[in-house]
Amino acid sequence: MKNILLTGATGFIGSHLVEQLAKEDMRILALVRKKSDTRVLKKLNIELFEAALDDENQLIQVFDSLSSQNIQLDFVVHCAAITKGRNLEEFMHINREGTERLVSLIKKHQHPLQKFIFLSSLAASGPTLLNESISIKDKSPITDYGRSKLAAELSLEQSGLPYLIFRPTAVYGPGEKDIFSVFKIISQGLNPLIGKHEQQLTFIYVKDLVSLIIQGLHSQVIDKTFFASDGKVYSKQALGNFIRQSLRKKTLTIKIPLWLVRIIAYGSQTVYSFRNRLSPLNLEKFKELKAQSWVCEVEPTFRAFDFQPEYDLQKGVKETSEWYVEEGWI
Ligand SMILES: NC(=O)c1ccc[n+]([C@@H]2O[C@H](COP(=O)([O-])OP(=O)(O)OC[C@H]3O[C@@H](n4cnc5c(N)ncnc54)[C@H](OP(=O)(O)O)[C@@H]3O)[C@@H](O)[C@H]2O)c1
Repeated sequence: MKNILLTGATGFIGSHLVEQLAKEDMRILALVRKKSDTRVLKKLNIELFEAALDDENQLIQVFDSLSSQNIQLDFVVHCAAITKGRNLEEFMHINREGTERLVSLIKKHQHPLQKFIFLSSLAASGPTLLNESISIKDKSPITDYGRSKLAAELSLEQSGLPYLIFRPTAVYGPGEKDIFSVFKIISQGLNPLIGKHEQQLTFIYVKDLVSLIIQGLHSQVIDKTFFASDGKVYSKQALGNFIRQSLRKKTLTIKIPLWLVRIIAYGSQTVYSFRNRLSPLNLEKFKELKAQSWVCEVEPTFRAFDFQPEYDLQKGVKETSEWYVEEGWI
């Protein structure tokens, strides 16, 4: 039986991934933090190892413990990261250096790794202009988060380990907490429309992303980077329209000019920081909202993994809305 180490298994994408991985013939080891909510993982009989990516000593102890139990890793899927942070230094500390710590311990303990799958982000490429597509060679992140994911990619590429990098676009689905705010606002009868500018957006449903990662594990493809999206291009109104349809909700559209969104983002970021918390709407998020096109070249992904997404945005939003309603989130 192959051994797979999964980081970020308690997060949104990781929790969907671990559920599917549990159906594979693999021994799953999850790297979790002391404070992580591990109830689901315990139910799935996943073996837990406690370490934060930013705590070198804890990571050293985990790898010593793997060695003392003669556990050799065949696969790593690295999902853990921060997506909100105070500054570039904090993003780099966890997203880049955390990845480097992991890589260095895998090499030090000579794990016979077949593949290190890294969940990067479309943010590592940065957006493009209307009617253009982001190429996998594009490396112009516009946020500190994107810079840290790109830096982590570069470290992994130079590590000598066999790697596979996925750069997903916006991921949505049951349990997601950021895009959820749009579902919430619409369920309350409001439909905010940000700016007058045209935007071309892309999405991937979490179940499709998980299928792609698992295809990636089984494939022979290594040392390559791929985008992950459902392959369609959506206007900035599409998400709201599909949510409204699926919730059967009449809404009042509120047009918010970009300059006002910028002020709100700045205000929200400042107020949250006084409480030592991170605002979901901040100046970094504003840059992403302002960008023209997040369309990426995804055909190479479909070809390399013989992958066809099962969900477009309409189908995925319907299933997600039903989940939010059933679980009492809205
Ligand atoms: N969601 C998206 O739209 C999207 C799009 C593109 C790429 N991605 C990438 O996909 C991955 C997963 O994203 P997600 O949406 O599932 O994020 P998430 O829900 O915020 O989950 C993040 C996971 O990382 C763990 N983590 C955070 N800081 C850590 C640290 N210092 N040490 C160890 N573990 C740590 C969290 O553990 P706790 O449970 O202890 O907090 C959690 O399990 C990330 O790498 C993200 O960059 C996400």
